[in-house]
Amino acid sequence: MLTRIDHVGIACKDLDAKIAFYTDTFGLTVASIEVNEAQGVREAMLEVAPGATGTSYVQLLEPLAPDTPVGRFLDRRGEGLHHVGYGVADITAALTAIGSSGIRLIDQRPRHGSMGAAIAFLHPSDVGGVLTELVQPAAWPGR
Ligand code: CO
Repeated sequence: MLTRIDHVGIACKDLDAKIAFYTDTFGLTVASIEVNEAQGVREAMLEVAPGATGTSYVQLLEPLAPDTPVGRFLDRRGEGLHHVGYGVADITAALTAIGSSGIRLIDQRPRHGSMGAAIAFLHPSDVGGVLTELVQPAAWPGR
């Protein structure tokens, strides 16, 4: 069902500073910078490595306001790892299968994610404390 680790999501207070850190320190390249009003974030996707089923990314997330999910996360926990995103080939089928196993779905239906992907989150309490995201990329080589 899961095809790969698509990205790790990292919450930060200053997106531009964190982009500079990851590009300077690790040599990552910026694939996209977007504002997602629905999720309350300004975010960047940085390419780590291309793979047979698609590229892996670091996703940097800066809240648009304190009263947003990432804003509240920063307030409670500070900067750091926020979620893990796994690639899936068919997000609707994956949600149906995972939901039928009893795991609570934060998103019953896919919504819009970075770079045109369809995404959905699973409840962290049902995934060992890890906020887990499913990602069906808009396109990848070999699809
Ligand atoms: Co994500």
